[in-house]
Amino acid sequence: MTHSAEADSLFAPARLGSLELPNRLVMAPMTRNRAEDDGTPPPLMAEYYAQRAGAGLIVTEAAIPAQVGITTPNVTGIYTERQVEGWRGIAEAVHAAGGRIVMQIEHGGRVGHRDNSGLDPVAPSPIALPGGIHTPSGRREAPVPREMTTAEIRATAAAFAAAARSGVRAGFDGVEVHAANGYLLHQFLADGTNRRTDEYGGSVANRIRFVLEVVRAVAAEIGAERTGIRLSPGNTVNGITESDAEALYPALLEALAPLGLAYVHLAYADPGLAMFAAIRRRWTGTLIANPVLGPALPIPEDGGLAKARELVEAGADLVSLGRAFLANPDLVERLRTGAPLNPVREEGLEYTGGPNGYTDYPTLAGAEPAGSAA
Ligand SMILES: Cc1cc2nc3c(=O)[nH]c(=O)nc-3n(C[C@H](O)[C@H](O)[C@H](O)COP(=O)(O)O)c2cc1C
Repeated sequence: MTHSAEADSLFAPARLGSLELPNRLVMAPMTRNRAEDDGTPPPLMAEYYAQRAGAGLIVTEAAIPAQVGITTPNVTGIYTERQVEGWRGIAEAVHAAGGRIVMQIEHGGRVGHRDNSGLDPVAPSPIALPGGIHTPSGRREAPVPREMTTAEIRATAAAFAAAARSGVRAGFDGVEVHAANGYLLHQFLADGTNRRTDEYGGSVANRIRFVLEVVRAVAAEIGAERTGIRLSPGNTVNGITESDAEALYPALLEALAPLGLAYVHLAYADPGLAMFAAIRRRWTGTLIANPVLGPALPIPEDGGLAKARELVEAGADLVSLGRAFLANPDLVERLRTGAPLNPVREEGLEYTGGPNGYTDYPTLAGAEPAGSAA
């Protein structure tokens, strides 16, 4: 097959469970800190997501399933009725604009601060996040988290399941369990952050236990066909160290394989690495891959298209892009036609609130993006 845009499978339809995707480009989850102070999504967020309804699938920014899991100021929650109603506005706006959207659910674990959540953060082991954390009064040292009890571990799996139920009730097409990027579930997987000596720590089988319990609880609540999971082997963000990722992730994928999940979403996917092939071999279901496009802000001139094609050739079914979707509400159309891309602007990326650098990125037409909820 040539790589002319028209012949490119990235722009061909695909199925994901019961969803018909018009293309294989997924908007990656991106926290933008625009929720109200109580974690409720305002109408502005519905407008932002509806602008991007041309994506094959949208994965929302992280929604927090319990107050203690709050990461940074103005992240979204999915544990109060008011929050559920705010999310409903997003699901409705995206569906009205012809899109498909799943909600990502994330617990911060040690990536948290009493000044952000009002509670002391918890984690598999009392090891602080290096490098500090954003709070309302600026960047602060992250506290040493309290080690979770077995009862808390069970309650957290139940909180994920309840959040998933709320997400589906709010109208989402499914949920993505966030087990990547150094948040609570990843903290359990990684031996640098998990020093437990009970059945949740030590061996690979023990360290994958909590993630499996969460995924099983969510799938039992809303159906496996509506449940996805995000993983990021090799990503050291949020101070993660993994000495045995080559053993752990294949074991995790083997345990996930029989559950019939909607998809596995690989953040930090590099088709040149043995890890990608190892995961593709063990996961026969839908694989979403998020290419490594380099550090924050600038995106490659092609928006990641060349890397996306490499991943499809290496076996990815769908490809997710983050920053390119952030800056280009009509990204799929731009990539399909080879049109130039808006660069990502630093202003308004996180922690500022408001439409600046959020809903004001222009479309090709230069007019209000099609699908705007306004
Ligand atoms: C502003 C911003 C916020 C992000 N928030 C999340 C998040 O909430 N959940 C998540 O899994 N990844 C998050 N990510 C990571 C993205 O999903 C993606 O993996 C990363 O941006 C790399 O993809 P890209 O090179 O296409 O941008 C975030 C990235 C950015 C730039």
